[in-house]
Amino acid sequence: MQCLLLCAAALLGGAAHAQTTAASPEALPPLSNGPFTAETVAKGKAQYLRTCSQCHGFNMVNSGTTVYDLRKFPVDQADRFLNSVTNGKGNMPSFKGALEPGAIQFLWAYVSTRGGKEM
Ligand code: HEC
Repeated sequence: MQCLLLCAAALLGGAAHAQTTAASPEALPPLSNGPFTAETVAKGKAQYLRTCSQCHGFNMVNSGTTVYDLRKFPVDQADRFLNSVTNGKGNMPSFKGALEPGAIQFLWAYVSTRGGKEM
């Protein structure tokens, strides 16, 4: 179970290193959909607090008027998550090169389990 995630994170990290120039979203390895451990979700939460909460709100709670309400993000759309976080969308900045290798996988574990409530 844990290997699923670790292997995906390792792949993601490797690819991020290899693609320091012109990475296309199609070339990114897909995110794992879990199952995730509590530890993985906790890593995602810590990353979320550092880089996402200022806009998306503490515990993903915001008014949902101008900033996307992440509690409603479709859990079956990992590719969309990866693409939007990597390349940005609308008023959201791109995080390409700004996150540690594997960080988007941890963020996906946090967001797709609704902050660890649905594991
Ligand atoms: C500067 C403010 C800001 C920060 C920081 C930010 N976001 Fe966003 N995010 C937004 C806004 C605004 C939108 C709505 C974009 C739109 O649809 O026009 C959004 C949308 C999204 C979406 C939905 C995209 C889609 O496909 O519809 C996801 C997923 C998301 N953010 C994840 C994250 C994650 C994960 C982080 C931290 C790594 C993060 N955001 C950091 C402002 C931010």
